[in-house]
Amino acid sequence: MSESGVSTLFVAGAGLMGSGIAQTGAQSGLRVRLFDALPGAAERAREQIGSRLARAESQGKAPSGSAERCLDLLEVAFSLPPPGDTQVVIEAITEQEELKLAFWSELGAGCAAEVIFASNTSSIPITRLAAASGRPDRFIGMHFYSPVPVMELVELVPGLLTSEATYATIEALGRELGKRPVRSADSPGFIGNRILIPFLNEAILAYQEGVGTAADIDQVARLGFRHPMGPLELADFIGLDVVLGICRVMHQGLHDPRYAPNPILERMVEAGQLGRKSGRGFYQYGG
Ligand SMILES: NC(=O)c1ccc[n+]([C@@H]2O[C@H](COP(=O)([O-])OP(=O)(O)OC[C@H]3O[C@@H](n4cnc5c(N)ncnc54)[C@H](O)[C@@H]3O)[C@@H](O)[C@H]2O)c1
Repeated sequence: MSESGVSTLFVAGAGLMGSGIAQTGAQSGLRVRLFDALPGAAERAREQIGSRLARAESQGKAPSGSAERCLDLLEVAFSLPPPGDTQVVIEAITEQEELKLAFWSELGAGCAAEVIFASNTSSIPITRLAAASGRPDRFIGMHFYSPVPVMELVELVPGLLTSEATYATIEALGRELGKRPVRSADSPGFIGNRILIPFLNEAILAYQEGVGTAADIDQVARLGFRHPMGPLELADFIGLDVVLGICRVMHQGLHDPRYAPNPILERMVEAGQLGRKSGRGFYQYGG
């Protein structure tokens, strides 16, 4: 048995993060079920994972048979609660507090008492979500980075009442998923977004003031700071709605105008310009 003892995962939310977490789980040999409230979304995510891995295989970037092995372990779930053999639920649904509170309170009522709950929220207080779940000792923040199959970091965020046993299980699970866990306090934005969001916000402000074009702002970060992506590219990649959601929670939670979302970000999200996933953000994607 593995150190964590975890062999079955239920992943809720089949967007950018949930599908990455599900893929990583199945590639690590866990049995994974992927659920999304939007009909067809989990099936689409599973197909995309399969075609990405098949492409990697055909290019010699993944061992032969790895796509099939991953898909064999990755099932689509069509409803809640998770089946009885689920040991850990990882939630990666839309970053809106009311959605997450409703999700966890429904799941807490319908799920076996020993199941551990983990939220991939970027900024919503873990202690608040844990209270809604009704099992604050078996609840933890498990904040992956995008793209999940590639990025090594996972921030682990215990809430006020998270037990050390829960922390130890999820820390071991994180390592078994090929990640390097870092512990963060349950403070808005945790460690990563506390640093990243003001950087993205400042880049958006510089863009709005015409200090540089989007391409030039990103080029400065790539060439000058050796960042693999510039801040505006990164914001598009994360999703502008996700960035806006995080800014709002941090602004409210830290009571500091430094974290207030830039009005241009709010307008872009209102206009449906969400970055890569909608085809347009600071840049245009696809056709
Ligand atoms: N995008 C990033 O780079 C990033 C990084 C780390 C953490 N996160 C966090 O991960 C979570 C998901 O972000 P994402 O970028 O994958 O978003 P996304 O918009 O790509 O996907 C969210 C998915 O959740 C589904 N959903 C909404 N409500 C649901 C419910 N009640 N039950 C089941 N499914 C539901 C939606 O249909 C959608 O498919 C958020 O909490 C976000 O803050 C995002």
